[in-house]
Amino acid sequence: MKLWGGRFTKATDKSVEEFNASIQFDCRMYAEDICGSIAHATMLAKQGILSEADKNAIVAGLKTIYGQIEEGNFPFSVELEDIHMNIEKRLTDAIGEAGKRLHTGRSRNDQVALDTHMYVRREIAAVSKLLVKLQESILKTAEKHGDVIMPGYTHLQRAQPVLFSHHMMAYFSMLSRDFIHMQYAWDMADRMPLGAGALAGTTYPLDQPAVADMLHFSKIYDNSMDAVSDRDYIIAFLETAAQIMMHLSRLSEEFILWSSSEFKFIELDDAHCTGSSIMPQKKNPDICELVRGKTGRFYGHLMAVLTMMKGIPMAYDKDMQEDKEGLFDAIDNIKFALTIYSAMIDGMTVNAKRMRDVLERDFSNATDMADYLAKKGLPFREAHAVVGKAVHYCIEQGKVLQQLSLAELQDMSPLFAEDIHHFLDIETCVNQRNTYNGTSPSSVKRQCKAGQKAVVQEQQVIAQWDAAVSAVYDLLR
Ligand code: ARG
Repeated sequence: MKLWGGRFTKATDKSVEEFNASIQFDCRMYAEDICGSIAHATMLAKQGILSEADKNAIVAGLKTIYGQIEEGNFPFSVELEDIHMNIEKRLTDAIGEAGKRLHTGRSRNDQVALDTHMYVRREIAAVSKLLVKLQESILKTAEKHGDVIMPGYTHLQRAQPVLFSHHMMAYFSMLSRDFIHMQYAWDMADRMPLGAGALAGTTYPLDQPAVADMLHFSKIYDNSMDAVSDRDYIIAFLETAAQIMMHLSRLSEEFILWSSSEFKFIELDDAHCTGSSIMPQKKNPDICELVRGKTGRFYGHLMAVLTMMKGIPMAYDKDMQEDKEGLFDAIDNIKFALTIYSAMIDGMTVNAKRMRDVLERDFSNATDMADYLAKKGLPFREAHAVVGKAVHYCIEQGKVLQQLSLAELQDMSPLFAEDIHHFLDIETCVNQRNTYNGTSPSSVKRQCKAGQKAVVQEQQVIAQWDAAVSAVYDLLR
């Protein structure tokens, strides 16, 4: 019989049972479900709602079940619908009467909310660690290739030379904002919903602060109806994940271009590429393509939960069971993406010579030529026109700007002098862009230094999260 079977006279239709069940995916929250139940039972006993003996039997029984699940020795049953009822039924089968008292003052509505909050908190800590590790890989590459100059692009047309490290540190900055997003997601998830009951609170004298303490939540929901029906923390996580993937997708696009024969700016390690079953010469950047491709499903998961939530009346509705599959899929895939990206950046080869060759044969220093004239007093718009003509002339002659003789240049403007060739030098172009966030070596060094500091601060935040999370799982020992 079902745990809720009392008022029913007929068995559940088989396809209804299967459609209604969530055990196929919520089984991964078993540790959270058990920790939550241990905390709940401990609090019930402390409040005199449950006897010490019953509490001890429940806690011991739950620990045994935890061991069985860990060993793969627990038959999950669709008939028992979800992780909560699977564990409760098994507990009751094992310890009898006492097991039936565990659900006192609790509903699956606040139970599932509690489990999912704990699960999301744990995964925020885990994903954030990988995020920071990727930032460290970016920092390492930036520092390793500190003097490599590459063409910078706008409209995917060569624009101005930049340091390769500057280009990479742009991604570091994006990931720093993603970490801020993670902190927000943590704040949303760090709220304890247990005690809300089905929706209205309970008639038992529960000690909710004690449960929050045991489970290391820093806040308790103010409103029981909100507590059981809030999914903002899931949305916050999915938004964060979607944004991280959007950033990785941009980087993917660049790596795909850069590793093509047309660019040849980088070579990805063999360990991170795949071959073709027909074309023996191929080395394909599948991982980058997959990350770019999978970004779509993250947006999908976010849209699905936002849309699922938008029309449901207070408080819990079964629609909300739909919050989990996308969440779990996002967690699994983002961990893969972050892990592989970090290794891929550590292992890639940067082809400095090729980048340099491209710059020597192009017009990325045209702005600098115009700036040269403007600094000598010519209004910038006029300087722009002079250099535009110079570029046109070069294209006709099959030359680049730095190959023009002083005589040719002075024909275009008498303001050109000997020193122009120094200013057209690619190094000079980069060195001179020494504004606060510019591409000069000194600016990029400052960025890297600030980046090192940011990483340490992020690691300190994660250590606090880790401490809270791991203290929860101590309840299982
Ligand atoms: N499996 C359910 C979910 O994930 C648990 C809560 C069920 N509550 C209920 N009243 N049916 O949402």
